[in-house]
Amino acid sequence: MMKHWKLEFDTDGIAWATLDQQGSSTNTLSLEVMNELAQLLDELDGNQPEGLVFSSGKSAGFIAGADIEEFTRIDSPAAAHALVQRGWDAYNRIASLSYPTLALIRGHCMGGGLELALACRYRIVVDEPGTRLALPEVMLGIVPAWGGMLRLPQKVGAAAALDMMLTGKSIDAKRAKRMNLADECVPPRVMKNAARMLVVSRQAPRELSLWQKLLNGPLKGMVLAQAKKQVAKRARPEHYPAPYAILDIWAHFAGNALAVPADKPSSLDAIFFSQTTKNLIRVFFLQERLKSLGKDSSFLAHHVHVIGAGVMGGDIAAWCALRGMTVTLQDQTMERIAPAIARAAKLFERRLRDKKAARLVLDRLIPDPYGYGVAKADVVIEAIFENLEAKHSLFAAIEAQLKATAILASNTSSLKLADIAAVLKNPERLVGIHFFNPVAMMPLVEVVAGRDPAVAAAAAAFVRRLDKLPLPVRDEPGFLVNAVLAPYMHEAMRAVDEGVSAETVDAAAVAFGMPMGPLELADTVGLDVALAAGKQLAAGSGQYASPPKKLSELVAVGNLGKKTGRGFYAYVDGKPQKVALGAIPEGLAERLLQPLLAATQRLVDRGVVGDADLADAGVIFGTGFAPYTGGPMNYLKQGRL
Ligand code: NAI
Repeated sequence: MMKHWKLEFDTDGIAWATLDQQGSSTNTLSLEVMNELAQLLDELDGNQPEGLVFSSGKSAGFIAGADIEEFTRIDSPAAAHALVQRGWDAYNRIASLSYPTLALIRGHCMGGGLELALACRYRIVVDEPGTRLALPEVMLGIVPAWGGMLRLPQKVGAAAALDMMLTGKSIDAKRAKRMNLADECVPPRVMKNAARMLVVSRQAPRELSLWQKLLNGPLKGMVLAQAKKQVAKRARPEHYPAPYAILDIWAHFAGNALAVPADKPSSLDAIFFSQTTKNLIRVFFLQERLKSLGKDSSFLAHHVHVIGAGVMGGDIAAWCALRGMTVTLQDQTMERIAPAIARAAKLFERRLRDKKAARLVLDRLIPDPYGYGVAKADVVIEAIFENLEAKHSLFAAIEAQLKATAILASNTSSLKLADIAAVLKNPERLVGIHFFNPVAMMPLVEVVAGRDPAVAAAAAAFVRRLDKLPLPVRDEPGFLVNAVLAPYMHEAMRAVDEGVSAETVDAAAVAFGMPMGPLELADTVGLDVALAAGKQLAAGSGQYASPPKKLSELVAVGNLGKKTGRGFYAYVDGKPQKVALGAIPEGLAERLLQPLLAATQRLVDRGVVGDADLADAGVIFGTGFAPYTGGPMNYLKQGRL
């Protein structure tokens, strides 16, 4: 009797092994699940089937990967080896079975799940938006050690395999078929038949071309050199050892992590026990915590009305439509709405890679210059000019039209929610839903609590439906993210005032692990916006009495950053022109980051954000703060600055 697997035989003598992990909404490859897999294979050894099909009993997907909870309990190199050996052996056993094996993949198929599929002779992917395949181990600081580094390059070629393993990015069903990761891509209604027919056919699995075989064999060096260059651009080995380990294990140990001697930097001993791995696993759980927020609210939005079709409102409306909601988008005139719709159309085509599907989503995004949507919407999001009087007159005008159950939200960056709510008859219903720019790229959304916690919970549930991460924050200037970014950007500008070049300042921050230097970030945000926000925050905190000199000078002459083509940098085709720089002065990164760390600590102490973990999650997902550190509070705790 098995708890997690179901084994059935059909009339063709094919065994169907369905994983439906008990007590969990998704399948993970826990110790119990893997032990039962071995048991299942033992059973089939005694009763050989015509073929074996692996599938999932969960509607959520195929297999999400290893059980990451178990990683946190690994306390010795021996335990790390045992965990890897377990999967490596099981999948080698599947790969050497004499009868045909097939993975029927519907929904997510990640990490150890994909490695299981790779060990099968065939793979069928079901053509649905939720079908995504990835080896995301690198994002946790570890390596795909259950055969991924061996088998993925054999299936799709070395370059494509390394790209997947080094970035952790996922691919969809159609792409999986195109790149030969899947043998077939079929609609759900024929998936079982297609699986049966492929197993019965016993056709030889497709092989790589001779050239691709050479690149995964004697000519590995060529691919390796190229991949190393790509990795070096993105990650430093002292911050992120895992991508370098993947390259080494693929190139020199035939993809077998167990074969690497313990004293090597790419050994399991080094990888599993690095501070980076601990911190990245921490970040994974922080993300899970944000994902769980809003779970207690049953709030469900079908119709969203967005007011203000500018930079933010336009993109918020597009994102809501992409996530399945009906959206009405209001601005003062049709001319102001049109550019947002054009931008949305491009986003949909880029994301969906299917003109018809993109058209269907675009049909859900409705220009609404007269604001008819206000009365029908479940959520109304205001994203008009950052001006209290303008917001007051708008809210006063629309409040009476709102549905009784509707959430009323403002996307304000710097105004106090309580001040905006002052004109409302029912101020309890107002909540802050603060998106970041660019909306499609930024995973975090701050949910600013108003007076009613139930409204904030409903807003968090709404943010989850948008597949973003909600961070509850208190109604204070700059909330969390802008309040920690401002002093960091301010310090960077001070350094420029003292004669350090913008290139040097930005390079110091990037070398630390920030996704972009603070001055390039200021240029991207807009220097007028940065100046105004700085003043506002300075007024609130009593710090930074005067704005940085260079910033004031640039704004005075209309050099507002990327949007005007000149700021701290000159821009050509939207790219900053940076001059070559010399060595980064000792201590510069620490100097830049110290104000950010101190601000985070202060906001935690003052309760603007619930606790240190939430602060770390917010700063990482809201600013891209170097994930290998585990977040600013964790970095401080580890005494690394
Ligand atoms: P924007 O200037 O690009 O767009 C504002 C739009 O609102 C304009 O198209 C304007 O015509 C429209 N508008 C003004 N009054 C209106 C009214 N009474 N009725 C209908 N439409 C009206 O501004 P942006 O940058 O999109 O900012 C909007 C809000 O989002 C502000 O509260 C800002 O603080 C906030 N925000 C901005 C971020 C950014 O990076 N730009 C980031 C996060 C929040």
